[in-house]
Amino acid sequence: MASEPVLSLAELENIALDRVNKITREYWTNGAGDNSTVQENKVAFNRYRIRPRALRNVQNIDMSTSVLGQRVSLPIGIAPSGWHKMANPVGEAGTARAAKALGTMVAVSMGTAMGSTPADVCSPEEVKSAGGSAVKFFQLYVFRNREYTRQLLRRVENAGYGAVMLTVDTAHVGRRISEIRNRPNMPHFLRTISFGSQLQKENPDSADFTIDASLEWNEIIPWLRRNTKMQIWLKGILSGDDAELAVKHKVDGLIVSNHGGRQLDACIASVDALPEVVRAVRGAVPVHMDGGIRKGSDVFRALALGAAYVWIGRPALWGLAYDGERGVELVLKILQEELKICMGLAGCSSTKQINASFLVQARDAM
Ligand code: FNR
Repeated sequence: MASEPVLSLAELENIALDRVNKITREYWTNGAGDNSTVQENKVAFNRYRIRPRALRNVQNIDMSTSVLGQRVSLPIGIAPSGWHKMANPVGEAGTARAAKALGTMVAVSMGTAMGSTPADVCSPEEVKSAGGSAVKFFQLYVFRNREYTRQLLRRVENAGYGAVMLTVDTAHVGRRISEIRNRPNMPHFLRTISFGSQLQKENPDSADFTIDASLEWNEIIPWLRRNTKMQIWLKGILSGDDAELAVKHKVDGLIVSNHGGRQLDACIASVDALPEVVRAVRGAVPVHMDGGIRKGSDVFRALALGAAYVWIGRPALWGLAYDGERGVELVLKILQEELKICMGLAGCSSTKQINASFLVQARDAM
C-alpha cells in the first residue's frame, strides 16, 4: 500500500504499472498496431465539453440506474478482461466482490472457463458465488468447436448467469506488436494469441478451439437463442447499420466498444460511435459503452451521448494490482466521487437528467 492517498485513475495507473512486470504491463496497456485506437478512445472524450446549467437543486445526487432489470447504485461496471490473477491472487473473484460492494456489475471473461488451472484463473462458478447479484453477464467467444460453446452456455446458465455478452469484434485477433514480441516469455495461458490454445492442448483430438471467423447474423443469433435462455447482448457494435441489424434480430442489448483499442487498428473511438448507435436503436434496447473511461466526467459525457451504463476495462486491472479487491473498490469509488461532483456542477441531480443538451462539441481535442 502506498502511504499517499491515490486520488485519480491517472495516479493509480502509474503506481500500478510500476508494480507489475514488463510483460503484464504491455499486455494490459498496448493495443493493436501503433496504439492509435487506444489513444483515440481517450482523446475523443475531450472533443465533447460540458455546458453546465445553474440553480437546479443538486443537493442530493442519484447515480443509480438499472441493468438487466436490476437496480445498480452507479452507472459504471467492470468490463470483461482475462487473467485477473496476473494482477493479484484474489483474481476475478476479488473483482466480483468489489463490484458487489459498490452495488454494481462485473462482466466475466470467457477466459475464466478456458481450461486453465485454479492457479491461473477463477472459474465462472467461483466468480458467480463471490459476486452474487453483481455477476450476471458472461462474455463469450464462439469457437469453431460449436459443441464446446453449447456446453459452456449450459454451464454458465446453470451457474446463475443471466446474460451472454457475445464479443463481435474478434473474428481475428488484433495484431498487438508487444504480445507477438513477448510471446515466448508470457505465462502459458497467453503464450499464443489463439484464445483456445490451452483447450486445444488438452483436447488434441477434438475439433478446433480457435474463434469462429465465419459467424453471420442469420446463423449465430438464432443458434444462441436455441441454446440458451439467457439474454443475448453484443459487445463491439460501432455502426448504426449493425445496431439496426441487432434490433432486427431481437438482441437484448448492445455494448458500443472497440475492445479498448486491442482489435481493429485505426478504429473509430467508442464514444464517437455511440450517438449513431443510440439513434439507430431508437430506444428498442439498452445501449452501453466502454473504451477510454478514466474520469467521472467521461462517464457523464457517455451518458449524455445516450449510453445507459458504461464499463471500465484496464482501470480494474490497475486497482487489482494496487491493492487486490480493495484496489478495485478504490477505482469505483474514485469514479463515483468524480461523477457525483460532475453531475452536481453540471446541474443534474439524477442520471435520468443527463442528456446531449449538456454537451458541446469542441473544435480541437486537447
Ligand atoms: C480486454 N477486453 C476483453 N474483452 C472481451 O470481450 N473479452 C476478453 O477476454 C477481454 N480481455 C481483455 C484483456 C485486457 C488485458 C484488456 C485491457 C481488455 C476488452 C474489455 O472488455 C474492454 O472492452 C476494454 O478494456 C475497454 O477499454 P478500457 O476501459 O480498457 O479503455
